[in-house]
Amino acid sequence: MNINSLREQFPALMQHIDGQSPIFLDGPGGSQVPQSVLNAMTAYLGHYNSNLGGAFFSSDKTVELMASARQAAADLLNAPSAQNIVFGPNMTTLTFSFSRAISRQWQAGDEIIVTNADHFSNVSSWQQAAEDKGVKVNTALINEADCSLDMAQFESLLNENTKLVAVTYASNTTGSINDIKRIIKLAHNVGALVYVDAVHYAPHELIDVQALNCDFLACSAYKFFGPHLGIVYAKQAHLEGFTPYKVEPAKDVAPGRWETGTQSFEALAGFISAVDYIAAISELDSSHTRREQLTVAFAKTKKHEMALSEHFLTRLAAYPKIKLLGIDDVTRLAQRTPTFALTFDGIAPRKVSEFLGQQHVCVWDGNFYAQGLCEQLGVLDKGGVVRIGCMHYNTIDELDKLFDLFDALLNTK
Ligand SMILES: Cc1ncc(COP(=O)(O)O)c(C=O)c1O
Repeated sequence: MNINSLREQFPALMQHIDGQSPIFLDGPGGSQVPQSVLNAMTAYLGHYNSNLGGAFFSSDKTVELMASARQAAADLLNAPSAQNIVFGPNMTTLTFSFSRAISRQWQAGDEIIVTNADHFSNVSSWQQAAEDKGVKVNTALINEADCSLDMAQFESLLNENTKLVAVTYASNTTGSINDIKRIIKLAHNVGALVYVDAVHYAPHELIDVQALNCDFLACSAYKFFGPHLGIVYAKQAHLEGFTPYKVEPAKDVAPGRWETGTQSFEALAGFISAVDYIAAISELDSSHTRREQLTVAFAKTKKHEMALSEHFLTRLAAYPKIKLLGIDDVTRLAQRTPTFALTFDGIAPRKVSEFLGQQHVCVWDGNFYAQGLCEQLGVLDKGGVVRIGCMHYNTIDELDKLFDLFDALLNTK
């Protein structure tokens, strides 16, 4: 992977602030965006800004754009059809809307499972729907050693009353990847549906909704080099079987009936371009399908990200005053994303991120809405953690500069 030529495509990575190159280790909160995505958004707004269903060229173009965006999402997720894709403003809003629709069929005595591994967008939405319906909410815990789901405890919660499992593919705080295929199989064995939050996982690994056999899977384009846009894959039977809240005269045909109001068409244009940006990392020509290109591209970015993780964890081992929450074993890199949750002896997470921010090293501190995880790990009331989040555009050199700053922070403390 030619990291320099990829980095050159990102205006944010090429800028200087106070004469310094900023270092973006804030990817899990939102990734940087290549110029091609910006161009696509400008081109749509500049020439074709319109709406669906008009009798003129820019409206025709908007209809085409919507269809292309659905196809790009289907290629990214390996959905059987573009008609399995629903767009919305962000993952949280879509998840609230799906939870409203799905819970219409729940009854008192039913149960659902949410997890401590999840961002609360995939917890609160279901908890509140359950409360409305008198449905019991069970919480699956994490293994504190590696921060993945505690599978034995999860299995003990499943029973014939379980209607839905809402679970994250990977933790947005510690990077731990859950055995999502097994979770789905176990849930299906008792007849429960599974709603997967793939927001953190999507920039790091290729998703295959057909191989997973998940019922629903949500992600967010601003986490994988695109603009702010939520995406949900759902099985056709569910898009037709459940009834969403919608405006009365709007067409009642899936997937459109799940999309309320006017979509951000410029975001759809940017999203297509973001998928194409990732596909182009493969360097395969157009005789290969976009899915084939994405498969090769993700294999390349994963290899680079694993090298970043290995370097980070190896260097971190020399810092006894910094504690990592999650997988620290360099032989288990396939089970984590390059996202690291840290606590510093005697220094609050906010103080660390402020110190780094002054040097234009961008990292997040806090709980990142992973409230259950931070509570179980005992850091919720201590300011959470410092999150170092690498993307494929980060370099070993940037990580070394980060460790130089850790040295300065720990020495000047
Ligand atoms: C794992 C995870 N799930 C869900 C969300 C919410 O996504 P959105 O901002 O698109 O609503 C986030 C955002 O940070 C996240 O990291």
